[in-house]
Amino acid sequence: MSQTPISHEAFTREFRDALGTFATGITVVATRAPDGEPIGLTVNSFNSVSLDPPLIVWSLAANLPCVPIFESCEYYSVNVLAADQDNLSNLFASRSDDKFAGLDVDEGMYGVPLLRGCCARFECRNVVRHAGGDHIVFISEVVRFDRDDTHAPLIFWGGAYQRLAP
Ligand SMILES: Cc1cc2nc3c(=O)[nH]c(=O)nc-3n(C[C@H](O)[C@H](O)[C@H](O)COP(=O)(O)O)c2cc1C
Repeated sequence: MSQTPISHEAFTREFRDALGTFATGITVVATRAPDGEPIGLTVNSFNSVSLDPPLIVWSLAANLPCVPIFESCEYYSVNVLAADQDNLSNLFASRSDDKFAGLDVDEGMYGVPLLRGCCARFECRNVVRHAGGDHIVFISEVVRFDRDDTHAPLIFWGGAYQRLAP
């Protein structure tokens, strides 16, 4: 581990790489805009917080155009991607205007879009938001969820997609 003073840019790059050693799953967080249009983005900052009450956490980059929608929506879904859904991860990490075009989705209890073929899907009530540097930290109550054990999860590690060894 280097102790030599480094520039801010080098620190940020090293910090990112060090964070990348923490393997995560990948989710798509989705909701509906006030006009009813479905929106969503790829998120790997998702994690569990509490079992009782059932709470989860994720963070949203504060400069994204979807911030006002996620700040004001009452409910959203967190869809845990399966190993064969890297195409969905790429799609929802893109700046496409209509990420849901041609995509078959289920409708959650509160109209939230639920992706198909996922490992698990959580329907969440948007409870608390905290400023967290250049991100906004969302903590939500899970009101309903389902799970499909037949799918292995998609993994993100070292800045790249990975799959669990059989
Ligand atoms: C594997 C992966 C994980 C990501 N995790 C997050 C995250 O946790 N929070 C976030 O704000 N953006 C995350 N992103 C970036 C967003 O998906 C990306 O900025 C997306 O374009 C945002 O959607 P929008 O442009 O429609 O607002 C991630 C991207 C990838 C590929």
